[in-house]
This record gives sequence, structure tokens and C-alpha cells, in this order.
Amino acid sequence: MSRLDSVIRRLKAQRACLDEATSMVDGKSGHVLELGLGNGRTYDHLREKLPNRDIYVFERQVNAHPDCIPPEDKLFLGNLEDTLLEARDKLGATADLLHSDIGTGDPDRNRKFATWLSSIYPDLMASGGVILSDQELTLDDFDQLPLPQDVQVGRYYFYQKK
Ligand SMILES: C[S@@+](CC[C@H](N)C(=O)[O-])C[C@H]1O[C@@H](n2cnc3c(N)ncnc32)[C@H](O)[C@@H]1O
Repeated sequence: MSRLDSVIRRLKAQRACLDEATSMVDGKSGHVLELGLGNGRTYDHLREKLPNRDIYVFERQVNAHPDCIPPEDKLFLGNLEDTLLEARDKLGATADLLHSDIGTGDPDRNRKFATWLSSIYPDLMASGGVILSDQELTLDDFDQLPLPQDVQVGRYYFYQKK
């Protein structure tokens, strides 16, 4: 598979997962957490799919397309190790959807960080809330859900709070 094909497949899978997750929480009123703004692609998709919802964005340093910069009062700026704890105090367990797209090219680091994230994410999620993560998590009191059709196993991980 060419590198172009591979990028296209990755982005199509990401969109399929986001579409599935947003349709699961459509009609609810809790807020959305976007971890890893990057250039703002998935943030833009989430706000298009879920207009009128509060979308809180977490990013170490904003470097997004100018059209995709979240309002200041919805931005947790800094390292997740700090900002997720702030969010836990400020927002509590009220999110319907958490999209976590923060992996690095270092699998060892990803695994360690995923263990820590697994201890924090449950405190942010409302009952029935959906987590879509680029890293495998270990979450008590969550069901792991199947991926949308055509999405390769291991590309994303889907969980729903019981
Ligand atoms: C793969 S990019 C996100 C891409 C984005 N979802 C998009 O569609 O454009 C990952 C982002 O997560 C941020 N990030 C990774 N680890 C972080 C951490 N520990 N604290 C804060 N931000 C982090 C990086 O700065 C980077 O912008």
C-alpha cells in the first residue's frame, strides 16, 4: 500500500469512528472533550457534527488552522498531566464524548501514558459517555465497543461508560 493510500485509510477510519461516536451522543446535552487539537481537523469535525455543544479542547501548544482555534474559555492549555486534573475539578464527570488523539511515535511512552489516562478519564465521563481513543485503555466500569465496519483493529479504541 502506498503512503498516500495509507494516509487516506487512516483519515477515513478516523472520520468513521468520529461519526459513529457523535451519532451515539447526538440528542444528549453533556459536553465534549477533544484531547489533542493538532491542526484542528478533528475538532472542526466534532463541532460540525455536534453544533450547540460545549467542546473543551486540551492542547499543550496551539498550532491549529486559524479557523479551528477554540474560544479561550473552552481551551485547557498546557500539559495533559496538569490540565486533565484541572478539568476533573472544574467539570467533574459530565462529558458525553471524549476523543483522545494524543499518541506519539514512542510505543513505550504511549503505554505508560495510557495507564495514567485510564485512571483519570473515568472521572470525566457521564454515565453512558463514549471514549474514542487512539491508545488502548484499561477502564473499569466501561464496555469496549466494536469499531465501525472497515476500520482496522487497533487503529482506534471505543469504550462506553456503564
Ligand atoms: C496527533 S495530534 C492531534 C491531531 C488532531 N486531532 C487533528 O485532527 O488535527 C496530537 C496533539 O496532541 C498534543 N499532545 C500530545 N501529548 C500532549 C500532552 N501530554 N499534553 C498536551 N497536549 C499533548 C500535541 O501537541 C499534538 O498537537
